[in-house]
Amino acid sequence: MVKNDTYAFQVEQITYKYNNQIALKDISLTVRAGERIAILGANGSGKSTLLKILDALYFPQSGKVCAFGEALTEAALQDEARAFALRRRVGLVFQDPDVQLFSPTVWDEVTFAPLHLGLPKTEVIERAEWAMDLLNITKLRDRAPHRLSGGEKKKVALASVLSLRPDVWLLDEPTASLDPRSQSRLLDFIGELSKEGKTIITATHDLDIVEEIADRVVMFCEEHEITSDGAPRELLADYDRLIECNLIHEHRHKHDGAEHAHHHLHPVAHEHQH
Ligand SMILES: Nc1ncnc2c1ncn2[C@@H]1O[C@H](COP(=O)(O)OP(=O)(O)O)[C@@H](O)[C@H]1O
Ligand SMILES: [Mg+2]
Repeated sequence: MVKNDTYAFQVEQITYKYNNQIALKDISLTVRAGERIAILGANGSGKSTLLKILDALYFPQSGKVCAFGEALTEAALQDEARAFALRRRVGLVFQDPDVQLFSPTVWDEVTFAPLHLGLPKTEVIERAEWAMDLLNITKLRDRAPHRLSGGEKKKVALASVLSLRPDVWLLDEPTASLDPRSQSRLLDFIGELSKEGKTIITATHDLDIVEEIADRVVMFCEEHEITSDGAPRELLADYDRLIECNLIHEHRHKHDGAEHAHHHLHPVAHEHQH
């Protein structure tokens, strides 16, 4: 594999199983630095597992993963300097914030990673305040993260990575439980990050945000394999594939008492001829 920074990740034929439960089957994927990728797939297709592998939290049973040209193995990450450098460059916002949050207060949570990874204190304070303002959680500063609502927790989890400002952003269903204003601010922010050349990989099944957050779509099928990889416009127009991968649903409703069903991109306003 090439040892340089052209690639954020090079994933070669990885398979991951939880005990006997298959989560990723023979996945290969190359991510160039600066790319914006949406990972699409139905529940259980393997998106979260892939992000955890890219963040070196899990290691595949077979295949190979490189980050910035260097192998990501359990042995390599025993080297503290190496692990530190990786944690500073790659930030994962978990799908489930309960797994991510552990500090006694929101402020401690948002400042933990950058302080721990050695950023100057004044800069950490500035970044943390900025991140909390962006997500409108300044008022939660002294609250205990585990006593917040689901959406509030998600914002704290996001802010704790925002304050780190890594080169590579791994976002696991980032908009899923956010209110509209926070969603919109986050999407704007993802746009800004991308202009700064950051690499952004977002796992989602929200087809409506894909074109805004990605220039490339990698689609998982329910068999835990990659089934398509290409431009959002093309992939989002491939209805048969979207249905097959369980990314659009059959919309059922009644017209004049008669049951009627058709597929559509939820929740795009649905106008159709009868
Ligand atoms: N901790 C776990 N133990 C056992 N199986 C798991 C665990 N986490 C996920 N899985 C299984 O692995 C597969 C992929 O899960 P996941 O990566 O979470 O999918 P997605 O994020 O696309 O919903 C699913 O079949 C899921 O049930
Ligand atoms: Mg998931």
